[in-house]
Amino acid sequence: MEINKVAVLGAGIMGAGITQVLARAGYTVAMRDLEQRFVDKGLATIRGNLERAVARGKLEAAAAAAVLARVRGTVDLKDAVADVDLVIEAVVEVMAIKQAVFQELDQLCPPRTLFASNTSGLSITEMAAVTKRPQQLIGMHFFNPVPVMQLVELIRGFETTDETFDCCRAVLEKAGKTPVEVREAPGFAVNRILCPMINEAIFVLAEGVAAAADIDRAMMLGANHPIGPLALADMVGLDTLLLVLEGLHRELGEDKYRPAPLLRKMVRAGHLGRKSGRGFYDYRK
Ligand code: CAA
Repeated sequence: MEINKVAVLGAGIMGAGITQVLARAGYTVAMRDLEQRFVDKGLATIRGNLERAVARGKLEAAAAAAVLARVRGTVDLKDAVADVDLVIEAVVEVMAIKQAVFQELDQLCPPRTLFASNTSGLSITEMAAVTKRPQQLIGMHFFNPVPVMQLVELIRGFETTDETFDCCRAVLEKAGKTPVEVREAPGFAVNRILCPMINEAIFVLAEGVAAAADIDRAMMLGANHPIGPLALADMVGLDTLLLVLEGLHRELGEDKYRPAPLLRKMVRAGHLGRKSGRGFYDYRK
């Protein structure tokens, strides 16, 4: 099956990034969020990224305009998904919400439509189980910032077919991404490794072993990471990080995944990283 029309649910950091990348690859994309102000913010992010690419001579102005013309922002779910080949959800990381979304999509979309979830680590099989097309649901885990990061984890749920997998792999390759195949497991491959590392950095900070800037400098200069773990936590969002760690802890039942109490406290305080202006660093200036 050939994919031409795509809908992306969620116009946040991930949803807008996914929309941009697919529209740039030539797909027609409907980007849907619950409120017009979220849609407008997502569209503004995409416009800003394209304008920067034009200013740096990496994209022709006409090509940027063509990319934008392929994107349609909307709050109307039915209108967004009525005739698409693929829906990618990038809504909040709560299983009950994702299941409700897929149940609704199952009613609204034609039988051919494939479903993908950009979840950071929740069970693809559990989402697929509430639909009548579990063979057509897959995990498509993009990395932040989506326009820059090469990798996408392509996750097979219990019933995902080869046809669904191959179709989605072709979409990602056309979009210039490098998919890796992952069999479903909590946190998949990357977050299973990455999030405990960031969590450990938070323990190191909380225990007073080293200051935040020094922890980050140490990992950049001593392990060749492009940015330090605490700066990365701020980029990912501390709430998202906490949800991933809680999922690993709950599902795998091992203490090594226990979220650092400081992380929990910061999330409770609303210090979520870049998106809220404060995290391990202050972004308000
Ligand atoms: N959106 C779009 N483009 C962006 C961007 C963003 N948010 N941030 C940077 N860029 C672009 C810049 O425009 C620039 O493009 P050009 O080269 O075409 O001019 C390029 O990226 C490099 O940017 P900078 O020179 O400003 O900055 P940098 O050299 O520090 O690189 C970075 C930025 C690539 C993001 C780098 O800091 C990095 O690799 N960070 C680590 C990212 C990472 O690990 N992400 C995974 C997070 S985990 C996750 O997402 C999974 C999960 O489920 C939790």
